[in-house]
Amino acid sequence: MHHPATQQIHAGYAPEGPHHPVAVPVHQSTAYRFPDHATAVALFRQEAPGFTYSRTGNPTVAAFEARLAALEGGVGAVGTASGQSAVALALLALLPAGTHLVASSQLYGGTVDLLTDTFGDLGIAVTSVDPADPGAWTAAVRPETRAFFLEAVTNPLATLPDLPALADAAHAAGVPVVVDATLATPALYRPLEHGADVVVHSATKFLGGHGAALGGAIVDGGTFDFGADPERWPRLAWPQARFGGRSLVERHGRSAYLALVRARFLHDLGPSLAPASAAHFLQGLETLQLRMARHTASALTVAEHLAAHPAVARVHHPGLPGHPSAGLAARDFPHGTGSVFSFDLAAGPGAVGPFLDALALFQLVANVGDARSLACHPATMTHCRLSPEQRVAAGIAETTIRLSVGLEDPADLIADLDRALAVAAGPVAASAAPVAAAGAVR
Ligand SMILES: Cc1ncc(COP(=O)(O)O)c(C=O)c1O
Repeated sequence: MHHPATQQIHAGYAPEGPHHPVAVPVHQSTAYRFPDHATAVALFRQEAPGFTYSRTGNPTVAAFEARLAALEGGVGAVGTASGQSAVALALLALLPAGTHLVASSQLYGGTVDLLTDTFGDLGIAVTSVDPADPGAWTAAVRPETRAFFLEAVTNPLATLPDLPALADAAHAAGVPVVVDATLATPALYRPLEHGADVVVHSATKFLGGHGAALGGAIVDGGTFDFGADPERWPRLAWPQARFGGRSLVERHGRSAYLALVRARFLHDLGPSLAPASAAHFLQGLETLQLRMARHTASALTVAEHLAAHPAVARVHHPGLPGHPSAGLAARDFPHGTGSVFSFDLAAGPGAVGPFLDALALFQLVANVGDARSLACHPATMTHCRLSPEQRVAAGIAETTIRLSVGLEDPADLIADLDRALAVAAGPVAASAAPVAAAGAVR
């Protein structure tokens, strides 16, 4: 098997056909002509491999799925229209009405919205627990618990959970662990190697890397044995009329969970990845390692600078000594923890607006994982729908600023932050800011 730097360029595609295009072609087609009726019947019965309709599969999307599965070390993947739909489908497949999820209290705000409101309406109970306290996860387990869910690097505070300990707790309770590895990417961390069973991504972020397309993916490690307790996993281990009267475990073995995601939830709910977006992600993956190394190094440089800045109360970056996750960063993230992290302004909530408005190079954007550097205020933007209690549990203060450090020169980024921090600190400090660092960016 090739190394990741080779897989990210070659896995999932080999040039073929009369023209042998080196880049994966965009198969911009909704459907596929069957050579004859017998083939159509076999495909619809899922007795033969192939494509029927692009809602459940497309050749360009399949190349992206295969490449990402190779990079994560999974048995396969399902592409989705967004990271949000990847999280939703990955969990809905495991959680019928009346079941229960144990989830990290530090999650992307849109995921919290999904778990709080939509899962609540669907009759799926959720208990939020501290990602840094494995004992709390075991204590939260109920007879109807069917999954653990967490982020490998949390949004926005970049906390790192002890995944091997949480995976042990989940497996002792007989449930799989689903990990959102969006902020880490397989270039920095492969959750399946640390005990996760399923990995989800917002490909919108670093996998695409250029802020130009929405998408997501679910990767299955094929490690969780759903057949060991059929009563617990009837959708997977019991015969289903929908699947020819056989069980998915019987039909698909280690890929049963992915078959459920694709043939039932992607088919029924329809959040399919567009082929043009898949092609964008394939191109993004080709440079993933290079970009993540640069993102990570620049973010640490910026974090170290902010940690020494008098206008900054606290920097939440696990690469800094004294951060609660520093030990896990050293143990599990030898190539760093990526470029999304947060810091708290010392001047108080009134400084947030002036600081954000004074930034010129960092853009005020509700996104992360772009070549451009981005800033946002989680309490009023990405995490604004959290209750005050949820925000406290997530560690998000009124003064917390989230950064996604891009690929620009870190010296320019630091100059931009220094100038905005001086503005936020007050008029006296602002007038003392170096004039050369000011000015709009072209
Ligand atoms: C960690 C994480 N997971 C999932 C999502 C949702 O992804 P998308 O915006 O592609 O739907 C986001 C979006 O910011 C995220 O940060």
